[in-house]
Amino acid sequence: MNKTQDEFDKYRKEVDLSVNNALKGIKPGASRADFNDYLWKKLNNEIGKFVWEALGAEIGQIELAVPPAHIGGDFSLEVFSLAKKIGENPNTIAKKIAGFINEGELKQCIERAAAVGAFVNVELKKREFYRKILAEIEELGARYGESNVNAGKTAVIDFSAPNIAKPIGVGHLRSTIIGQALANIYNETGYAVVKDNHVGDWGTQFGKLIWAWQHWGKEEMLKDHPVEALKDLYVKFNAYAKDHLKAADEARELFARLEAKDPELVVLWKRFRDLSLKDFQKIYLQLGVEFDTAIGESYFSDRANEVVELCLGKKLCQKDVASEAIIVDGLDGLPSFLLRKQDGSSLYLTRDLAALKFRVDVFDPDVILYVVGSEQELNFRQMFALAEIMGYLNENVVARHIGFGMVLVDGKKMSTREGTAVGLEELMTQAIAKSKEILIQKNPAMESSDMETVSGIVGIGAIVYNDLRQSRTNNITFDWKRMLDLEGGSAVYLQYSYVRIQSILKKLNEAGGEGGAGGPRSEIAFENQIEFDVAKKLMIFPDIILKAQQADYPHYIAVYLEELATLFNSFYNEVSIIKTEDQKLRGSRIKLVEAVALVIKKGLSLLGIKVPGKM
Ligand code: ARG
Repeated sequence: MNKTQDEFDKYRKEVDLSVNNALKGIKPGASRADFNDYLWKKLNNEIGKFVWEALGAEIGQIELAVPPAHIGGDFSLEVFSLAKKIGENPNTIAKKIAGFINEGELKQCIERAAAVGAFVNVELKKREFYRKILAEIEELGARYGESNVNAGKTAVIDFSAPNIAKPIGVGHLRSTIIGQALANIYNETGYAVVKDNHVGDWGTQFGKLIWAWQHWGKEEMLKDHPVEALKDLYVKFNAYAKDHLKAADEARELFARLEAKDPELVVLWKRFRDLSLKDFQKIYLQLGVEFDTAIGESYFSDRANEVVELCLGKKLCQKDVASEAIIVDGLDGLPSFLLRKQDGSSLYLTRDLAALKFRVDVFDPDVILYVVGSEQELNFRQMFALAEIMGYLNENVVARHIGFGMVLVDGKKMSTREGTAVGLEELMTQAIAKSKEILIQKNPAMESSDMETVSGIVGIGAIVYNDLRQSRTNNITFDWKRMLDLEGGSAVYLQYSYVRIQSILKKLNEAGGEGGAGGPRSEIAFENQIEFDVAKKLMIFPDIILKAQQADYPHYIAVYLEELATLFNSFYNEVSIIKTEDQKLRGSRIKLVEAVALVIKKGLSLLGIKVPGKM
């Protein structure tokens, strides 16, 4: 073997090994609960069938909604769009459907249907129905919510992707948090998921960094905060190169030598890479994030050239006569872009295209998600457009750019220059310290070892939830007061609801009596409207997860969990389980709050947030 290739090949083999391991994970996984067996889906399907028959027309899926409290019914069906499709008056149609449901012999569940304007309100046979909801949750336990809708499909999720030799920033934090949540959510609906960290470990900046290291680098710089030190060297180089053009030329040459896999430079580069990944790992550990592979851009430096040749072969790009750079001219009306620089070096987009082809060839995915800030939208549109023409993407393999907004401080983008940028380690330390303050107020008697654990869970939860509680395309801010608000809009609100339920259950167990842990569970007797409302909310959880997956919006789950917790808190204010004498009612209520706790815990875990055992 050519000696120059040795070092790089060694590294490439490491990557290949991780790819093989990831591939093993793609084998058809554990079977998932059938989505069509969920009560909510069944109810929709059943009523849908009645509606078809009533109208004598195929009208596609219908979707029942949970109406506002002042509407009597348990569920309602809005018929505007139906009416439009068939070309009839909505009120007439609503009446027709209600009549049909009432006359038809509608299975065990439905009491009656009534037309109110363009709505059909449906009232259920309550006992039977609510027994089923709770039985379903109890039966599936922590699996409740999963489904098989996407069984047999594979998703590659590209997220986090920080740049080597630079501290991981807030943008990469957002990508990490959103990507991890999407990986969980996709998996929950049946997808096999490959989580790839496409680290930025190649490009002209490494020529500069190596130049700076060769001129100014000292071993001891890499001892305590190696990534900070490397970043400083890079910054220093850029300032220096402004009036030392020779340095810039030499740096370009160095990168060209690195691209040719000069062993001396590869060893140096690999060292910077390893030091950086080790540093990133600290953040991943705190967030509980793991990757299957961290293939990185460097792996595609040679493949990028092959892809360029393929594009040239198909006449999709051409060599600029003057500069020798390779250019793709306006695809789909998009601005033209480079595939290879004048000096022959590869580019971010080209390496990305090679990575896309590699993913398609190796993982045979149905979908590839790129969780990257919205400012890169054009880059992805250009790359996807080319990938489609090249045939890498088609109706069976789709790629989606999962964009997200910025992190703002006082309404402005964080800026290192203006000193408003916060390092991630500092951010996490702050979050944990602030959580601790709140916990001390709330529960001064908590033992200090518990305090450490719980403030860690609450602090990290605050950061993650702050990101996922609203649409990812929005910008976010770090408003500690809101992020740690016990009254709502925060992870701690949900975590606290969960812990509160645990302590209720503990008290009930200590008090003994029927319904405690294993009381009568076959019959459900509710009394207050709020109990029905909570149960109904629980029922739609699997559907919410699926919708979050289909829209790539983790915040659907966050919003849902808050609504659930708010309902639970109203329940808690209205009803005292421990004072409930009627044993059946008491047992039902216990079952209900157990299910709430289970769903809160599960929902938070999908978002990548833990619940503490106490608070
Ligand atoms: N390292 C890049 C950056 O920080 C993000 C890479 C995202 N993934 C990708 N396949 N382009 O901007």
